[in-house]
Amino acid sequence: MLRKKLIAGNWKMNGKLEDGVNLARAVSAAVRKLTKPQCEFLICPPFTLLYSVKKVLRGNKVALGAQDAHTASKGAHTGDISSEMLKDIGCSYVILGHSERRTNHGESSRVVARKAAAAHANGLKTIICIGETEKERDEGRTIEVCTKQIRNSMPAGSQAFNTVIAYEPVWAIGTGKTPTPQDVEEVHAAIRKAVAKKLNKTIASRMRILYGGSVKPTNASEFLSLPDVDGALIGGASLKAEDFMAIAKSVY
Ligand code: 13P
Repeated sequence: MLRKKLIAGNWKMNGKLEDGVNLARAVSAAVRKLTKPQCEFLICPPFTLLYSVKKVLRGNKVALGAQDAHTASKGAHTGDISSEMLKDIGCSYVILGHSERRTNHGESSRVVARKAAAAHANGLKTIICIGETEKERDEGRTIEVCTKQIRNSMPAGSQAFNTVIAYEPVWAIGTGKTPTPQDVEEVHAAIRKAVAKKLNKTIASRMRILYGGSVKPTNASEFLSLPDVDGALIGGASLKAEDFMAIAKSVY
């Protein structure tokens, strides 16, 4: 298989210690029961839970990721966390440029690229998020917006082994609304083209592009069966182990 599908949970700012550990235990136990997993699994809890969740996942096939990382490795950056620190406690992935960070923290694509370069230098894989707003979609600018975000958010030197793209239309996040599968396939194909232009065709053909935005057990197979969709980045439905695993089953 050229691109093994990735089923990733973004827990966002949810979970106290006990909830997080229980959720990680439930996911880990369910994944352990799969005899031949057809996809890779990743969970991205909030910073406060990373270390405890790592202990639950140790030796398991579920990877651990964070939801942001600073551009620097250390220093006077109150409230921030570096890629070096995340790697040190056992993370292998970090989500960068999520629309909630772009909107709430004013993160530009240039900043995302600098964060991604730092993450790669520290041996982390990045999940770089892009996606258009409802207004941009209504104006027919989806592909233009997404290709520009790709161009500016992906640092030079990105490779298929250390970079995953997540296409998350802003208007589909947490709303229950989703684009049609045809729309998703069209945008993913355009993203792959943009990656080929920025890096090269071989890297683009190997790089995973996930869909995110109101993915649920009931609609997951519509997206996961598309040729250019290589997995899902799941918010709300990743907070219930049964839903998360039901989505993963759509890959089978
Ligand atoms: P929802 O699945 O809750 O729509 O969130 C998607 C998302 O933002 C994942 O990063």
